[in-house]
Amino acid sequence: MGRLDDRVAIVTGAARGIGRATALRLSRDGAAVVVNDIDADPAAETVALIQSEGGRAAVFVANTVDLSEAHTLVAATIEEFGKLDIVVNNAGTTRDKMFHGLTDELFDFVVDANLRTAYHTTLAAMPYMREVAKAEIAANGRPSYNRKIVFTSSVAALMGNPGQFNYTAAKGALVAVTKTLARELGPFGINVNAVAPGFIETRLTAAKSEGDTYGIPEQLRADSLALISLGRLGEAEDIANVHAFLVSSDADFVSGVTIPVTGGQLGGM
Ligand SMILES: NC(=O)c1ccc[n+]([C@@H]2O[C@H](COP(=O)([O-])OP(=O)(O)OC[C@H]3O[C@@H](n4cnc5c(N)ncnc54)[C@H](O)[C@@H]3O)[C@@H](O)[C@H]2O)c1
Repeated sequence: MGRLDDRVAIVTGAARGIGRATALRLSRDGAAVVVNDIDADPAAETVALIQSEGGRAAVFVANTVDLSEAHTLVAATIEEFGKLDIVVNNAGTTRDKMFHGLTDELFDFVVDANLRTAYHTTLAAMPYMREVAKAEIAANGRPSYNRKIVFTSSVAALMGNPGQFNYTAAKGALVAVTKTLARELGPFGINVNAVAPGFIETRLTAAKSEGDTYGIPEQLRADSLALISLGRLGEAEDIANVHAFLVSSDADFVSGVTIPVTGGQLGGM
């Protein structure tokens, strides 16, 4: 028996990296998982991986920067699995630029991908999380079980990071809205928390060559490792483990917090 048996989850940005590891982990814990991303092929691969292990999953390609796509994503989830209990808002990306060279285009793109996707997906989920819990409270005095929302912030928002004004604007906002929504949705038995990953090995942190869209310079990778108390870079599974804890009943009395998952990154708390 898994601790997420009978739960239905949406994981955004689940085509690769932390999102894929989280989708796989939630499935191993028993949840049916809707894999959302803007990249169709790797998203379908995540679903195939889950199904090859006997899990239940469906792919839904949508860019929830557009609210109507978020509503369609949630509607497809209800149609496929009948309900929605868990939203892991993991979609995100970077377009680093030192502040003096920042443009509105780069600011909007990064804030949209990291903050607006989370806002829209969570908003679209409300009829199936808040309203359903409200009806259960009216009928039985309390919700049948706690429902869960997780945001993916970043240690960059907790300690600052040169070149990431746009990214830390979005990731810092996620820390703030975690507290606001925890207060608003707590009476409905909905836990709202965030994870702030440190340095995790994905395409966002791969060694970057001149002209690459993603990644960071090799020197910065080496510097980052030197700051990590546990002496290694993080793996996507390190974040998936914490996502899985937060969306389980083991975390039913945890709400409104942002958990740094950094390997003890100095200055990162
Ligand atoms: N890797 C790290 O060190 C690190 C550190 C802190 C925070 N994070 C955060 O963790 C999350 C996952 O990052 P990752 O490292 O796995 O990166 P990744 O690039 O490997 O995966 C991110 C996924 O999000 C998807 N995505 C981007 N915009 C989207 C949108 N509008 N709608 C749906 N999907 C979208 C991408 O297509 C991609 O598949 C992000 O929010 C990132 O900011 C990562």
